[in-house]
Amino acid sequence: MSNRSIAERRRMAVARAALSVHPISPTRAAGAYVWDADGKRYLDWTVGIAVMNVGHSHPRVVEAVQRQVAEFQHLCFAVGMHESYVTLAERLATIAPGPSPKRTFLVNSGAEAVENAVKIARVATGRQGIVAFTHAFHGRTHMALSLTGKADPYKAGFAPRAAEVYRAHYPYLYRNPFGLHGDAASDAYLHQLQDLVETTIGAGEVAAFILEPVAGEGGFIPAPAAFLRGLRVYADRIGALWIDDEVQAGMGRTGRWWAVDHYGLEPDLVATAKSLASGFPLGAVVGRAEVMDAVGPGMLGSTFGGNPAACAAALATIDVIEEEGLLARSQVIGAALSRRFRALQARAPRLGDVRGLGAMVGLEFVTDDGHTPDPTLVQQIVADCRANGMLVLPTGTYGNVIRLLPPIRMSDDELEEGIATLEAAISTALAREPVPA
Ligand SMILES: Cc1ncc(COP(=O)(O)O)c(C=O)c1O
Repeated sequence: MSNRSIAERRRMAVARAALSVHPISPTRAAGAYVWDADGKRYLDWTVGIAVMNVGHSHPRVVEAVQRQVAEFQHLCFAVGMHESYVTLAERLATIAPGPSPKRTFLVNSGAEAVENAVKIARVATGRQGIVAFTHAFHGRTHMALSLTGKADPYKAGFAPRAAEVYRAHYPYLYRNPFGLHGDAASDAYLHQLQDLVETTIGAGEVAAFILEPVAGEGGFIPAPAAFLRGLRVYADRIGALWIDDEVQAGMGRTGRWWAVDHYGLEPDLVATAKSLASGFPLGAVVGRAEVMDAVGPGMLGSTFGGNPAACAAALATIDVIEEEGLLARSQVIGAALSRRFRALQARAPRLGDVRGLGAMVGLEFVTDDGHTPDPTLVQQIVADCRANGMLVLPTGTYGNVIRLLPPIRMSDDELEEGIATLEAAISTALAREPVPA
């Protein structure tokens, strides 16, 4: 089977709505590399959209899952309490942000973690209002898409959306309309948020704020520390909760277990998934015990959530990150990426912004006017990287950002290979652009 023949069969059998960015069919993957059905090898800096942080088919993860499925595959936690679910909840409590005692509820995906976090927040506060942000992505299920900030392709056509969802402005400093910088910009965004709450919703109606500390699908935009600190203080002041969506930014991606760890903040509820179980479907809500315990027995549940194979994969993944020092490695990789692409930016002004946290780095491209998003250029760079044996993905509300999601377990040679391939693709795309008249 070739990539092309699989693509032809797919056209007749698979829903058109299920898009594949790259026209390749993977047949094998190990560490930082993926091979396709034509036998071509790619350096993978998508890692399955932030899922294989520890690299593909890490032997510890493979062995843990094989051992578990040989013992038993499934009974459902609602039927009987398998130990790996409990052990994982204990481990998550030790790595979750903040000192408060924690409880965990396991599900199958990021969207489900978000849905359940909202359910928990509503029961715990007795309020309904949920404040989400522009440039947000929280998933594809009904509540999750209602919380998501981008209409096309996530929301348009799927109305009616969930009620009691309000939208505040995400602190996207590169494109901020206030023309302010630093803490003054954060203050302006916080002021807008408070104005929305107090004039439009009513402070006593807000159950929770839900925010990605680094907006992923929105364009790899880190929220400034001052904004996050202000959000924590304000949520406490009005008796609302803070749901921290770490589905993409968590599990070591940013150089700490969670992006909010960079600021020493404790959210009330954390949603995680993606790299939690290295490719096995698993999501979790980890929250302050008193918030989680507000929800009564049987009010949450899932047939597959916390499946034993997924729990085994998650426990092995946490071991690998701890024992191989991958949080520190993620910081080293992130620092190298930022340094190298900032140096490139000085020579290529159409690379308008280089930003990120740890090994979650976004490259935002603009046209010659220095401001207008340039998604076409990004498409060319992505295609050129693929032709040269490297997978990267576009992202961003305007499709003009390249997101770098390298494995955080990667050699210096692999890091250098990726940077060199990207630099060459960016130079080629810029050279190919028509010269302005
Ligand atoms: C921040 C964030 N939240 C939620 C989700 C939804 O996760 P899933 O696709 O596992 O439902 C995603 C997926 O990209 C995400 O990036």
